[in-house]
Formats: sequence, structure tokens, C-alpha cells
Amino acid sequence: MVGDSLFEQRIRADRASLETLASRISPLMARNETAALRSQMIAAGGELEGRVLLLDRNGKVQLDSYGEMQGERLQYPEIANILVKGQNVDYGVHEMDSGRALDTSHLLFTRRTNASWVGYCTAGVVHASDIIGVLLLVSPVQEMMQNVYQLQDQMAVILVAVAAAALICSWIFSRVITRPIAGLTRGIRQMSKGDFSSRVKVRGSGEMRQLALAFNSMSEKLETLDQSRNQFVSNASHELKTPLATMKIMIESLIYQPDMDKNLRTEFMTDINSEIDRLSAIVSDLLTLVQMDSQNVKLTRENLSIAQLVKENAHRLQPIADQKGQKIILSLADPCDMYADRNKLNQVIYNLMENAVKYTQAGGQVKVTLQRQGRDARLTVADNGPGIPKESLPHIFDRFYRVDKARSREKGGTGLGLSIVHQLVLLHGGSIRVESEEGSGASFIVELPLHQGS
Ligand SMILES: Nc1ncnc2c1ncn2[C@@H]1O[C@H](COP(=O)(O)OP(=O)(O)OP(=O)(O)O)[C@@H](O)[C@H]1O
Ligand SMILES: [Mg+2]
Repeated sequence: MVGDSLFEQRIRADRASLETLASRISPLMARNETAALRSQMIAAGGELEGRVLLLDRNGKVQLDSYGEMQGERLQYPEIANILVKGQNVDYGVHEMDSGRALDTSHLLFTRRTNASWVGYCTAGVVHASDIIGVLLLVSPVQEMMQNVYQLQDQMAVILVAVAAAALICSWIFSRVITRPIAGLTRGIRQMSKGDFSSRVKVRGSGEMRQLALAFNSMSEKLETLDQSRNQFVSNASHELKTPLATMKIMIESLIYQPDMDKNLRTEFMTDINSEIDRLSAIVSDLLTLVQMDSQNVKLTRENLSIAQLVKENAHRLQPIADQKGQKIILSLADPCDMYADRNKLNQVIYNLMENAVKYTQAGGQVKVTLQRQGRDARLTVADNGPGIPKESLPHIFDRFYRVDKARSREKGGTGLGLSIVHQLVLLHGGSIRVESEEGSGASFIVELPLHQGS
């Protein structure tokens, strides 16, 4: 395109000057004023830096600014286009073969200018709307052609450089983009095989970094979930195995000692019965937890008073407390009416109060306080029992967690009570925390929003 426009410019300039010259000399030619013609043409040849020839209607040279070719007949397409086809002007570029004389004019021309590319510009000399001759301007275009070729070479070099740069850039980009994606794919594949330990390298900035961070946090969560599920299953099996093993021993004794003392037999049967109770309690606790995990648990709400629930549970636990010489003190400042699930809240209050009674030594006391705090009901179950050691506090709401495994199991506990309480409180949109110092009792504080969704 640049070459074309260079040519265009040159051609336009040559044509214009040749046309002016043609119109200037046409009256001279018509009047056959040879001397004036010659001087005009020599002047023009110098001006246009080329050789100017004037041909007659038959293509025969009449005048040559170099004064060499008069009377010779020239045949070039540019001349024929004017004389035969009737064009006003024409232009053509010819390559000279310096080793071979194509024809005399070429030879002459190249000898003088040493050019291997020449341009032929022709213009018709018109007089009284008749073509009476042709002006031919032969000028070197070597420099221009060289420029064009140089330009072409430069363009080729630039093109190669740009292509190489584009290749390098795309390679770098593809590495920057595809590498992390390949890493992620590998991680996802590993995960789909059940290995949640895979993490990807967090590199760079922007979207890819976010993606890597999101992937890592997802795999971390899945890993914890997987571990806690495995833990849960192994804990559950362990809890179920103990009563089953005890029952098996007792039943085998009954089978292999048919003449066992009747009282001992009844004692065994009673023990087996209580183990069955324990088993069914564990199973129902597990079912409750699994149900809450599946997240399709529904609350059956009704109008109730938390104070009333506390009173009912205190009544239920009173016989056990009496047996241990414990006091249950209620301080219910507000009825705390609420639209909630009666059974589930009952379970919360019962589990907390039962723990307090169960783990507090004989002669101790359990204090239940209920008050309104802004939009919340605040229930505190406090005792003056052994308390919970500091290192156990973060795990107290974990499934199957017991502070003193042996002693707690002796008391019939499986360590599921508080985790159920925690889940149920969350279901009601509330929160639970524990405050305790070893040796000086424990307080469980539950806060429940009284007006859900308002
Ligand atoms: N009021 C308390 N004082 C001292 N320790 C407590 C108290 N409440 C709970 N704990 C400790 O927390 C552990 C977990 O309690 P949680 O109610 O979850 O289980 P559990 O009572 O052992 O069994 P479950 O309630 O399922 O029958 C208990 O084993 C006990 O060691
Ligand atoms: Mg308990």
C-alpha cells in the first residue's frame, strides 16, 4: 500500500507536467516550429530530470531532448495506448536488463543514467481535437523502486518480529493462564477420587488468585467435614459396641448357667434391660443429630412460655436432685413468651439442667435464671459442681465429647447432649456459650430471640 501510494504520487506529478507540456507544444507542433519545439523540450527534459521525446502520429521520433533518436520508430504499449486507444495519458514502469540490450532507447537511456528501473509516461499532443503526436518522458525510478523494496524488506523484518513477539506473548499468557487451571483440574480430579488433602499454589493476583483461594478453602472444609464424619461414625460404633458387649457377656452367662440363682438372674435381666435403654437413647440421639444435619428439620412452632418449660423440667429432675441432696433454685424474672418448638426447647432445657444435676456433687446446687434482655430471652443454668477444665471448653459442644470419659460413661452419658443442645439453639436463631472455672462450677448461657423474623 505504501509502495502504491509512492507510485501514485510520482505518476500524478509526471502526468501533470507532461500534460502541461503537451498543451504548450501542440500549437508549435501544428505550425511545425521545430526550433522552438526543441528548446522547449530540452528545457522540459532538464526540469523533469529525464529524457523527453516527441513522436508523430505514426510513432516515429520527431524530436529527442538528448538529440540522438530522431527518425527512429518506437513501439511501447504506453505509446500505443495513446495513438490506438485514444487515451490522454499513460504510465508504465520497465525493468532494464543491464546485461542485455532490449532495444536502442533502453540501451541509450541506461548508459546515461545507469538506471535499471525506468518509468515511461506518455501524453497525447492534441490539436483541434485530433491527436497529432505523443510526448514520451523516460525518467529513472530506480530510487523509488529501491525505496519500495527497502520498505518491503523492512516490512518483512517487522512482520517477523511482530509474529515472534505475538508467539512469545501468547506462550507466556498461556502458561500464566493454563498452568494454574491445569493445577486446579489436577486438584479437582484428586478430590473426586476422595482425596481431600489436595491444595493448589496461590500465585499472581486477580481472578486466578481468587479462584485458587476459593478452591483451597473449599478443599479444606471438605477435608474437615470428611474427617469429622469419619470420627462421628467411629465414635458412634464405639458407643454402640460397649453396651452390646456387656449384654453379650450377660446373656452368655444366662445361657451357660441354666441353674443360676433366681435373684442373680433377675439382676442380670435388669442390667440387660438398662443397657437396652441406653442403646435406644444413643440411637435416638444419633437420629436427632442426623436429622438436623440433613437440614430438612422443621420446627413445629406454638405459643409457649420458657419460664413454664423451666418449671416443668425442674419438677422432672427434682427426685434425682432430692436423692443427691441438691437444691434447684429458679429465678424466673419474666415468663418469656415465645413462638417456638416446644419439644425442641424442652430438650435444650432438660439436657442443660440434667447435666448440672448429674455432674454436681451431692449437696450442691443448681440455679436456673431467666430474664429478658432487649429482644432476647436469656437463660442461664449454673451449678457449683466440678466445672469444666479450660482445655475442654472449646470442645464441649462437640459430638461424643466428654471431659472425663470413664466417669461420664458411668453416669450413662454419651457426650451427645450438648451438641444436640447447640444445634437446637442455632435452629431457633439463638446462641449458646459456657463459662466455667475448674472446681467452681459451670454456667451455660442461652440467648434466644423472642420474636423470630420480626
Ligand atoms: N454442668 C456441668 N458441669 C461439669 N461438666 C459438665 C457439665 N455439663 C457437661 N459437662 C461435661 O461435658 C460433657 C459433655 O456433656 P454432654 O451433655 O454433651 O454429654 P453427656 O452428659 O456425657 O452425655 P448425654 O448428655 O448425651 O447423656 C460431659 O461428659 C461432662 O464431662
Ligand atoms: Mg448430658
